[in-house]
Amino acid sequence: MQSYCTEYDNSRPHPSLDDLKKWLRKIRELGTMRIALVGGEPLIHPNIVELVRYCRELGFATSLTTNGFLLTRKLIAELEDAGLQVMQISVDRMTPSPITKKSFKTILPKLDYFRDSKISLHITGVICADTLPESRAVLETGLSRGIPTEVRLVHADPLRRFRVDRGPREELERFIDSMIERKRRGEKIHTSEAILNYQRSLLRGEHVEWTCVAGYKLFFVSAQGKFWICSMVHTDKHIMDVTLDDLYANYRKKSCQEGCGVYCAVSASLLVEKPIAVLGKEIVARAKRVPSIFHPSSSPRIDYAPPAGITNPDGTHEMNGRTNGGPSADDRVTLRKSV
Ligand SMILES: C[S@@+](CC[C@H](N)C(=O)[O-])C[C@H]1O[C@@H](n2cnc3c(N)ncnc32)[C@H](O)[C@@H]1O
Ligand code: SF4
Repeated sequence: MQSYCTEYDNSRPHPSLDDLKKWLRKIRELGTMRIALVGGEPLIHPNIVELVRYCRELGFATSLTTNGFLLTRKLIAELEDAGLQVMQISVDRMTPSPITKKSFKTILPKLDYFRDSKISLHITGVICADTLPESRAVLETGLSRGIPTEVRLVHADPLRRFRVDRGPREELERFIDSMIERKRRGEKIHTSEAILNYQRSLLRGEHVEWTCVAGYKLFFVSAQGKFWICSMVHTDKHIMDVTLDDLYANYRKKSCQEGCGVYCAVSASLLVEKPIAVLGKEIVARAKRVPSIFHPSSSPRIDYAPPAGITNPDGTHEMNGRTNGGPSADDRVTLRKSV
């Protein structure tokens, strides 16, 4: 299948539960507070429920990103019981296509499973030429059900190649603009205005000033236990050999910043760089969701909003520790853990 994502790469075996637990303990020792089980596809790991439970026992705030194909009422109940706090379901189109099978057609019947669940659900889609004609419908469908929803621009690989056609710039820009408008009105666009602005700058080819905190405030661990600065920049160092000094050394401008599409890293970086500007806009947007403040007559909706304290202003779950200044011994890092 020609796809924008590498999740269908089944060439490597699942890491064992024992290895994963060992890596998790090490990651925790490094001061990591939050973990995102991303994959590949985390739900195909045979021990995913136990893994979530172990993450919680170690004290991680825990989220999971999935295409949702394997979700059942029973599995959601088990994940909830294990302590999973946040789930992201990826939905790119209303119906599947050769580029992506992540469609609302598959997911809609499953949304009901979350109605009484403590797991906070949000939906994230990827926009490219193939998905663009249906991206607005994806956004509308998620928002109309009260689910925080985001659709974001497809990004290139480290060699700056797009695996799929990105789509016409003007139309993409109009769509991003419309999301900024809706965000400002208080709708549950599950990303920050800072990231929407950043994506618009990407489209326009404008330079954005920022310092990448990937490898420091957040990092990835591969299915082989390798320490990855981010999903695009990999190292051969094993997570068991990583030190705090290794992490601090990654708080620097990086040669791959221009055009970077690793939005979780950009988001964490912008928050570190401009906490007041980023958080200020988010607070205003969220305040508009409170009916008594801005919408005295609005009707109630199902609310899957995440618990306070686990979500970043852009809706991601990667950011920890201080949001300003340089590294210090007290800083915490966050993992996007790959299984
Ligand atoms: C490793 S992926 C896949 C995890 C899981 N299988 C899923 O479908 O959610 C994690 C997220 O990154 C997104 N993603 C993958 N490749 C991307 C790209 N080239 N541009 C933008 N987002 C991408 C996916 O759509 C998904 O939401
Ligand atoms: S700028 Fe940072 S997040 Fe982006 S590709 Fe480079 S290391 Fe990764």
